[in-house]
Amino acid sequence: MEETLFLKKDMKKELSNYEFSNLKKALKLGREKVIDIIKQSGLKGRGGAGFPTGLKWELAYQEEADKKYIICNGDEGEPGTFKDRYLLENNPVKVLEGILIVAYAIGADEGYCYIRGEYLGPINIFEKVINEAEATGILGENILDSGFNFNLYLVKGAGAYVCGDETSLINSIEGKRGRSRIKPPYPIAKGLFDKPTVVNNVETLVSAVEIINQGLDKYLELGTENSRGTKLVCLSGDVNQPGVYEVEFGQVTLGEIIEQFGKGIRNYVPLKFLVPGGISTQVLTPAELNVPYTYEGIASAGSALGSGAVIVVDEGHDLVDLMLNVSRFFMDETCGTCFPCREGNRQVYHMLKEGKEGFTEKDVELIKNVGTTIHLAARCGLGQTSLNFIGSVFDKFGDELKLKGGEHYVTSKY
Ligand SMILES: Cc1cc2nc3c(=O)[nH]c(=O)nc-3n(C[C@H](O)[C@H](O)[C@H](O)COP(=O)(O)O)c2cc1C
Ligand code: SF4
Repeated sequence: MEETLFLKKDMKKELSNYEFSNLKKALKLGREKVIDIIKQSGLKGRGGAGFPTGLKWELAYQEEADKKYIICNGDEGEPGTFKDRYLLENNPVKVLEGILIVAYAIGADEGYCYIRGEYLGPINIFEKVINEAEATGILGENILDSGFNFNLYLVKGAGAYVCGDETSLINSIEGKRGRSRIKPPYPIAKGLFDKPTVVNNVETLVSAVEIINQGLDKYLELGTENSRGTKLVCLSGDVNQPGVYEVEFGQVTLGEIIEQFGKGIRNYVPLKFLVPGGISTQVLTPAELNVPYTYEGIASAGSALGSGAVIVVDEGHDLVDLMLNVSRFFMDETCGTCFPCREGNRQVYHMLKEGKEGFTEKDVELIKNVGTTIHLAARCGLGQTSLNFIGSVFDKFGDELKLKGGEHYVTSKY
């Protein structure tokens, strides 16, 4: 099976000789038409939450303010996700063009590109692109003689997963502690420095550029009614060929992603489960391999497409070790503002550690209750999703974990 090349088509690493024809097209079409095209395309944000991009742009455009901002979210902290890094390394010019198109559409004259601090390669590449764009007049005053002014600044992330959350990211750019804000107000109305702000993921921006470039009609031919276009899937874990693959929504199942793109599971070990959207999402079992890769397909199987990180786990792993690994991540990454998220994730970690000797029904009930409490009380998505992986492992493999009376229940068979 071949990749569907829409985002990966015609990627631009170098600024020299690039015409910015999509920006020119957008400037000619005018703000409202650009927003209308993106609205009609049905594009959903690729950062994880899946908010309709055109609507976000329209709401920001309608805000009356003396200043507006655009932020490109390249923090990419969700374990298993590496597609924004791929785009920043291989297609940085189109990322810049996407930022310019949103800025123009909503009426922003300043923007920030926030890139994960550990991504030294992409940071250097994007810094170079910004410098060249400034030198050639693609950034600055009166861009392409259109009267549109725009300046862009690069910010290196400070190494916290929570800073990928848009309001934490805004705090981080403002020089404050990276922790989420209470919503509403949403960034569209009151974001960076309290001004209307659009935050878009790197992949969302490149998708928007290609919708302008290759045309709305072409885009509407791709995908399903609720999952338009293509998606970059980050395939990792126990597969023969991990990587970033572009798939058309609705044309492949989860099983086909593993078999056709990942070339199957390493060493022919049977699949235990897969995580369809990063470790903030629920695990799916081999019985769910025929689920189509769409937002709606994965949601109806009880999980989420999230950021596009498909992590494949074979039977050769200890389930408690896997859960401890995930739990440790959330315990470390909670920003600590909400008590249930801060304390609950710590308690779950310790309960799982105790569980190395076996769980009782009561242990499992307690872990699930803590999970529900965190979910209900958490201010941001980090807390709300922190027990999705662990809760689903208990739901789906509970009989392998419970009441093993001191034995080491899941021994590695391979
Ligand atoms: C804990 C947490 C981490 C997040 N990390 C990222 C991230 O690394 N990149 C990203 O684009 N969105 C991330 N998001 C989602 C953002 O808050 C926001 O929805 C997104 O950047 C909006 O862009 P989009 O509409 O183009 O998807 C995260 C959300 C949460 C709650
Ligand atoms: S849910 Fe967790 S990460 Fe989010 S604001 Fe509350 S404490 Fe911080």
